[in-house]
Amino acid sequence: MKPLYILTALALLYSGQTILAQSPKAKQLVGQMTLEQKVELVVGMGMRLPGPTAASDKKDTAKHATPGFQLPPSLPQDASIPEKVPGAAGRTHAIPSLGLPSLTLSDGPAGVRINPILPDHPNQTYYATAWPVGTLLASSWDTSLVQSVGKAFGREIQQYGIDVILGPAMNIQRNPLGGRNFEYYSEDPLVSGHIAAAMVRGVQQNGVGTSIKHFVANNQETNRNSVNTIVSERALREIYLKGFEIAVKEAQPWTVMSSYNLINGTYTSESHDLLTDILRNEWGFKGLVMTDWFGGKDAVAQMKAGNDLLMPGTILQYNAILTAVKNGTLSEDVINRNAARVVDLIFESPTYKKIPYTDKPDLKANAQISRKAATEGMVLLQNNNNALPLTIKNNKQIALFGNTSYDIIAGGTGSGDVNKAYTISLDKGLLNAGYSIDKNLIEAYTTYIAEEKAKQPKPRFFFELVPRVKEMNLEEPLLQTEAQNAAAAIITIGRNAGEGADRKVENDFTLSTEEKSMIQKVCEAFHAQNKKVIVVLNIGGVIETDSWRSWPDAILLAWQPGLEAGNAIADVVSGKVNPSGKLAVTFPIRYEDEPSAKNFPGKELEPNEHKGFSLFGVPAEVIYEEGIYVGYRYFTTFHVNTAYPFGYGLSYTQFNMKPLQLSANVMKQNIVVKVTVTNTGKVAGKEVVQLYVSAPHSKIGKPAEELKAFAKTPLLQPGQSTTISFALTPADLASFVTDQAAWIADAGNYTIKVGNSSANILQTATFQLPQQVITEKVKNLMVPQQPIHELQPAD
Ligand code: BGC
Repeated sequence: MKPLYILTALALLYSGQTILAQSPKAKQLVGQMTLEQKVELVVGMGMRLPGPTAASDKKDTAKHATPGFQLPPSLPQDASIPEKVPGAAGRTHAIPSLGLPSLTLSDGPAGVRINPILPDHPNQTYYATAWPVGTLLASSWDTSLVQSVGKAFGREIQQYGIDVILGPAMNIQRNPLGGRNFEYYSEDPLVSGHIAAAMVRGVQQNGVGTSIKHFVANNQETNRNSVNTIVSERALREIYLKGFEIAVKEAQPWTVMSSYNLINGTYTSESHDLLTDILRNEWGFKGLVMTDWFGGKDAVAQMKAGNDLLMPGTILQYNAILTAVKNGTLSEDVINRNAARVVDLIFESPTYKKIPYTDKPDLKANAQISRKAATEGMVLLQNNNNALPLTIKNNKQIALFGNTSYDIIAGGTGSGDVNKAYTISLDKGLLNAGYSIDKNLIEAYTTYIAEEKAKQPKPRFFFELVPRVKEMNLEEPLLQTEAQNAAAAIITIGRNAGEGADRKVENDFTLSTEEKSMIQKVCEAFHAQNKKVIVVLNIGGVIETDSWRSWPDAILLAWQPGLEAGNAIADVVSGKVNPSGKLAVTFPIRYEDEPSAKNFPGKELEPNEHKGFSLFGVPAEVIYEEGIYVGYRYFTTFHVNTAYPFGYGLSYTQFNMKPLQLSANVMKQNIVVKVTVTNTGKVAGKEVVQLYVSAPHSKIGKPAEELKAFAKTPLLQPGQSTTISFALTPADLASFVTDQAAWIADAGNYTIKVGNSSANILQTATFQLPQQVITEKVKNLMVPQQPIHELQPAD
């Protein structure tokens, strides 16, 4: 379901190519290959760990690997072949005799991740734009904005000589503690799917590929390589697969990356149900599937499942596949099919087409696009008495508190991190915007942070997160002086996380004692002087806000906004940009209120001796007992209060949404919903129209409401209106009925609810679906091997 005007715009804009599945040309070329060449094609060239190794370095990889961590070897000849793009995550084998070059695949969702400095190129750097993280982009609810980011990002990918970017990442944010939530978009599949599709279209417009990941239900980092996700087929299809389905059907990504985890007993990369029956046969995917790095266990099963390319590729996989074909346990037809898909990807690639690249993307222009996008996804959570925008008279200063103000976080860690040339801190951003900042505080904080960082232990492995520097104790005399001299206070609270570990409740989801005491003391001192306090949240995932949110005057959720962080925050603080972001994920009151809290991250089935990074982890399982009741589907159905609901976000202006009109009150082919949005306030702004639907009572249980469409208005001047149209079809109303293996829209009365958050519905209207409609009949697939006692709403 899409807004009509977006549909038209998409048709005009979309010029991205799609890949032909096993084209005759590819099949013919595969027909000329030896078995060994075909197997080389379906197994990547191995990898070097990020860190000390570099392009020109032809030394033994093992010498440079992280201590205690051994990489499985690649084919013997591969290590000596220089990389085209040093620091890229992986490459495919070339077959020069057949004119097939090696492809370069690089991380990741928030920007090109390559080595920025190469010893043998002393006069050049290879820094990349750190775009705002996925969660922020989704909070813009603006598909054309995301497509424009994708377009600039794709150009940068192309300019660095890369063929496929390993993103966007689009797993559902099932639980606030998910370590990689920052890379992902939303708790809702519709938002995730449309935002991902926009990103894919934008990137692929440049003739380079994407890899939507991690397919699928990779919703935690704890034991990510070994966890068996036990989930019902309905929840899988309606929540976890849905976003991928939207992205595949809308934007045809060149590739899909299977995930590490198992689902209902089978590794995703070994699941024929997932990679062939669902992805290709049901959805019509025409591209290539690659594994996540070292994902899955059985190379032969992966080949059979339709996992065309094993990345980064090891000699063990190569040998296993070759042996299986030779001894007849793996049909050569399977390898022909998978190899042809790799060849088709190669044919499509810029490397094959010899598209020139400069290694000099326009980083300045991209930084401005990144900054603009960052401002569009920031969410104004609170703004008592119009504390923001902050106008400061008589050249007075802002007192800037919190370590993160001076040490801002552009994005998360792990493969979603980006080697950027700089990150603008908040003090710099505010200064650039013309504010004055108290110099004593700058001095005190920068000295303190430097001293504390010097004491920190070095990370023991690539993914290990350096502990956060504790907030310093703010002494009363200092606070009194600041409150007397400064015009207002801004406090930044920061959080980081990333690949390899999930977050914790204590001191991560919740604020630390020092953080709370800082907010409390600053608020007391400044409020005593009748001065405002603003809290900026520089976080990648959801935190607890309920216990302290009534203290400050305003709270701006800045997420992790990329390399222009401080400038982008200052744009919103100053009112240069009116915030229009909305939450794409619920902020609960307490962690325990989350429907998945008692089933996250599941349980280990054997004791875990190895607490560091490990390739395989210990056998573990997690049961998705909340079923489809993820995020707002749970909070609205089970009447659980939230701190900030899904879809929520304030503006410096106000809007109304009326009238709401339906094209009919009985649905035949479709119903067109029209709503007019008017800016009733005093400054220009944008609003997000959210269309939820409440379905009639059904024997399978339905959420109280589900998002079925959304659109962001253009910038509306005070008094200006715009009318937005959405077309709904029976397929948009359908739920998955497992015992009929079908998507079914029940007959009955439906309520359309239009508003600017899941909890702030401004208009409603009803229509009837006279008869049940089976919108799609499929096969039961990925069926759980055990009954799941799923949460059900009371009748
Ligand atoms: C991550 C992927 C990433 C790959 C290559 C894996 O560890 O899960 O998201 O694309 O590494 O760096």
